[in-house]
Amino acid sequence: MMHNDVEYVMLTEEQIDKRVRELAAELDEYYKGKIPLVVCILKGSTLFFTDLIRRMETKLTTDFMRVSSYGSGFVSSGVVALEKDLTVDIKGRDVLIVEDIMDSGNTLFKLKEVLGSREPADIKIVTLLDKPCRRTAPIQPDFRGFEIDDKFVVGYGLDFEEMYRNLPYIGILKPSVYEK
Ligand code: PRP
Repeated sequence: MMHNDVEYVMLTEEQIDKRVRELAAELDEYYKGKIPLVVCILKGSTLFFTDLIRRMETKLTTDFMRVSSYGSGFVSSGVVALEKDLTVDIKGRDVLIVEDIMDSGNTLFKLKEVLGSREPADIKIVTLLDKPCRRTAPIQPDFRGFEIDDKFVVGYGLDFEEMYRNLPYIGILKPSVYEK
């Protein structure tokens, strides 16, 4: 059972649900009278994205992107590749990028640059988790769920070696799991 690999739960399902509803309300307020394009960054954001949009009451459209930052293990490098692009033109649109976690900020810095060149009316970032202590790129989220310390977290979309994304909470793995 994957739960046995978890040392402790950092954010419970209830804590996440409460914060997601609050963020949805903040976003509804911000996008009043607009129809934003809400972009899910695969794969980590999938659970957060689906929960967030179902709590939003604003009319919106959705799309998906996959980017990968080269670099091994826990540290992302400054190079970002577009593995799956949007399927719609964002010129004049209000774009909301949905991320699970901001670490160095490299991924979103590059992504914002790429999308910004397509002349959207506005680009905002919502991230569920923010590790500001790890930031190296000059970028901050516009909306964020939780600020967390520099710990390796899994669950609610976030993986270790592609596993644990389906944990309904955010947790810390036992060292024995990744020291193998
Ligand atoms: C994670 C996360 C962000 C990025 C954050 O994605 O979803 O995209 O890393 O790191 P950064 O701020 O240092 O750039 P990952 O590459 O693990 O892909 P995944 O979402 O498919 O798990």
